[in-house]
Amino acid sequence: MNETLERWSSRRAFILAVTGAAVGLGNIWRFPYITGENGGAVFLLLYVAFVILLGVPVMMAEILIGRAGRRSPMQSLGHLASEAGASGHWRWVGLFGAFTVFCILSFYSVVSGWSIEFLVEAVNGEFVGRSAAEIGAGFDAFLADPALMAFNHTLFLVMTMLVVAAGVTKGLERLNNFLMPLLYLLLLVLAGHAATTSGFGEAVSWLFKPDLSAVTPMVMVHAMGHAFFTLAVGACALMAYGAYMPDHQSLSRAAASVAVLDVTVALLAGIAIFSVVFSQGMDPGEGPGLMFVTLPVAFAELPFGAFWLSLFFLLLLLATWTSSINLAEPMVATLQGWGLGRGKAAAVVGLTVWSLGLLSVLSFSTMADVQILFGMNAFALVSTIPPEIFLPMGGLLIAIFAAWVLPAPVASRALDAGPLGFSVWRNLVRWVSIPLTLVVLVSGLI
Ligand code: PFF
Ligand code: NA
Repeated sequence: MNETLERWSSRRAFILAVTGAAVGLGNIWRFPYITGENGGAVFLLLYVAFVILLGVPVMMAEILIGRAGRRSPMQSLGHLASEAGASGHWRWVGLFGAFTVFCILSFYSVVSGWSIEFLVEAVNGEFVGRSAAEIGAGFDAFLADPALMAFNHTLFLVMTMLVVAAGVTKGLERLNNFLMPLLYLLLLVLAGHAATTSGFGEAVSWLFKPDLSAVTPMVMVHAMGHAFFTLAVGACALMAYGAYMPDHQSLSRAAASVAVLDVTVALLAGIAIFSVVFSQGMDPGEGPGLMFVTLPVAFAELPFGAFWLSLFFLLLLLATWTSSINLAEPMVATLQGWGLGRGKAAAVVGLTVWSLGLLSVLSFSTMADVQILFGMNAFALVSTIPPEIFLPMGGLLIAIFAAWVLPAPVASRALDAGPLGFSVWRNLVRWVSIPLTLVVLVSGLI
């Protein structure tokens, strides 16, 4: 009895940890604006297809490597490769992952800082009675204030690195126990309210009636990248969690339930946001500010709107917090593997991420027109290339390692889905996920 209870709690802990990593800005901030920039329903359709065909199978590959290796990502990859008689160079996939999350966390922290600002403003009742245009103007004024934005970025990163340094990640993941249901409920209420607004019908058909002639290689690249990003797959961040996964827990069920939760959170946010967009005659392709200028409008229409808006930004902040802690983990683990103490490793990671983040901060004012590469400013660059190119590349290598390099008995034991489940998963990864990722990546580069 006791044993059952213990196992139950650790299985639950694992799902909560992965859910905490998955649900964050990707669902509520990034999904709506990228969908808005890529034509709505076409993007949504491709994104859901990629979540099913790539996201879930590669998530399973990533976690099973961690579970089979039971070490930090670089060490697991190196150890398993040498046992399989393969090249020790496979461990560099872990370092590539650490570099990827380094770039991602730098802008993630800046945008989380925007949420801190909006939380403070919501608590002060600053959105009450304001029109959509006034809220938009207020947001623009905030973007033009690099000092304030840098302050919030600093605050968020300190919050994150303190938790990482203290190693109390597990306790924080328990936060998800009540955080996820509450966030979900609030989004349900918002989507329900959206159904009563004038823009709802247009929002629904814009989101769910795809025009297949609008499929282009670039839309596919964006959709594939977002599928990896939203599930936190491709940077070895989930591999680290896999090392602690209990022996008898279905990996496929865990991955599938996280994916369902993650996609539905994004859909609810999308319905709420695009209803405001179409009710107010706004532009769906507004860009990174989309969530921040629409949701205050939606909440303002609810009774006790200021309260609900404050609660929403608080929940969003907590959700991005658990994602950031996961983002920091591969870097801290790598530095620890090189002999640094946990506190020092967290400090080094925090400082370097903070410095890179300053470029994103300035991208909304003084450095807005400074094109770093491909005609993009610093924020556009780090919020596009690492999620859309690096994550799929990392995911591709992870998938090849799990499905082609790892000996079948090792992979099958770590997958724990029986012989049939294993062969379905491996064939899916070998003949669908890997070629599809390659084709989309290559078509995007051309
Ligand atoms: N999945 C997170 C989100 O949707 O906000 C972002 C993320 C976390 C991406 C961890 C990558 C990662 F390794
Ligand atoms: Na997500």
